[in-house]
Amino acid sequence: MPLSIIILAAGQGKRMQSNRAKVIHQLAGMPMLQHVVDTSKALDPDQIIVVVGYGSDQVREVMEDQELCFVEQSEQKGTGHAVQQCLAELHEGNDVLVLYGDVPLISIATIRNLLEEAKGSALNILSFLPENAQGYGRILRQDDGSVCAIVEEKDATSAEKKIRESNSGILFIEGSELTRLIGGIENNNAQTEYYLTDVVKLAVQEGLKVSATLCADAAELSGVNNQQQLADVESRYRQIQASRLMMQGVKLYDPMRIDIRGELQTGSDVEIDVNCVFEGTVTLGDRVHIGANCVIRDTAIDSDSLVLPMTSIDQAIIGRQVSIGPFARIRPGTECADGVKIGNFVETKKASIGAGSKVSHLSYIGDTQMGSEVNIGAGTIICNYDGVNKHQTIIENGVFIGSGTQLVAPVTIAEGSTIGAGSTITRDTPEHKLSLSRSKQVTINDWKRPVRKSRD
Ligand code: UD1
Ligand code: MG
Repeated sequence: MPLSIIILAAGQGKRMQSNRAKVIHQLAGMPMLQHVVDTSKALDPDQIIVVVGYGSDQVREVMEDQELCFVEQSEQKGTGHAVQQCLAELHEGNDVLVLYGDVPLISIATIRNLLEEAKGSALNILSFLPENAQGYGRILRQDDGSVCAIVEEKDATSAEKKIRESNSGILFIEGSELTRLIGGIENNNAQTEYYLTDVVKLAVQEGLKVSATLCADAAELSGVNNQQQLADVESRYRQIQASRLMMQGVKLYDPMRIDIRGELQTGSDVEIDVNCVFEGTVTLGDRVHIGANCVIRDTAIDSDSLVLPMTSIDQAIIGRQVSIGPFARIRPGTECADGVKIGNFVETKKASIGAGSKVSHLSYIGDTQMGSEVNIGAGTIICNYDGVNKHQTIIENGVFIGSGTQLVAPVTIAEGSTIGAGSTITRDTPEHKLSLSRSKQVTINDWKRPVRKSRD
């Protein structure tokens, strides 16, 4: 049967102490709920239903345009009640998998295993063995090992509380039994809530087979209720990413000190020093080396390039054998061709820099098209903004710009031009000539340093 996935995300998450709905708090650069949605999509289900309640407008807004079906649960009367709200939207006969917006690390492999082991059962529960089972629903099994009920902590006897095998909350329900079982849930329990877990009891009463699949990695089932748990989950996420990279052959100087908030693709023999953050989609080619404390976002860096420490790169395309940093700021729209060198305290934006060109120190290069083999002297500023509009600067091949120069856009520095140090260039320059704009140096012979006036 086709699969419908229901993601429960209606709770407020009071312990987050926040006005934002819990499931849209960020985990590794995206809303917690997005992780669960992405995992769900990877299973290629027939439909994904998200149950929203507290802050539902915020959740819908953050998660829009993703072909999700939102169902409103205005009052949170329990997990069973939440699933009951979905019955009208559920495609009839579909099998159902219930996931949680605040259990974001559940893996595709674990879910596939749960679905596989569900075959032949009306229900399959994902169970686990927590270090401390307090607060969780416990799995009650018969002598033959089959599951007969889940009892919530608040309803459990002291003997039942001793059971360690706990309910993760995640479960599979076979389509043909679903409507009847879900419809039969009542709220006569300690919390007067509609417990989703009661489907187990109902199924057993009808003589249906109920199974539980034990999840080997309890960390995947960690729920987020407060900022501390969110940080723990983020730390776990970091470890998973780091292990994946190392298995692909990436050298991480310290796997505990890397953050991947998005997707990082790597070639062979890539090395990443400590405290680097990768956001969005980042691609690193073969033998790329990233120095310590770099933040790189939505960028492709081709092979044999070197990013030196404390560098920030955002939405850039970097060629081969490029060297950037330390302390460089590469802003959106920067394209560096092969062999480019960007040195310390250089800022670039909307700039294409041709092969072999060098901007080695203390410069601003914005709205610029630079040819190849150009040398930009220290402290060169492209004055691209007149206070209202931005203008283009063109620097052709083989240009040499002396230190401390301002190029006032729009301006073209023609091929092979040399600009004398300390110039303010406002007009286009001719090819292969020296241009400079500098007042003559004078010496005032009788000038004296001012002296401090005495107060009295
Ligand atoms: C639930 C399970 C328990 C399990 C535990 C695992 C039930 C009755 N109990 O308990 O067996 O061990 O999870 O963490 O299911 N939610 C809604 N609408 C509601 C109520 C809850 O969307 O009306 C969502 C919450 O936002 C949360 C999730 O469902 O994401 C679980 O709800 P919660 O109240 O935390 O259930 P527990 O009491 O922890
Ligand atoms: Mg809970």
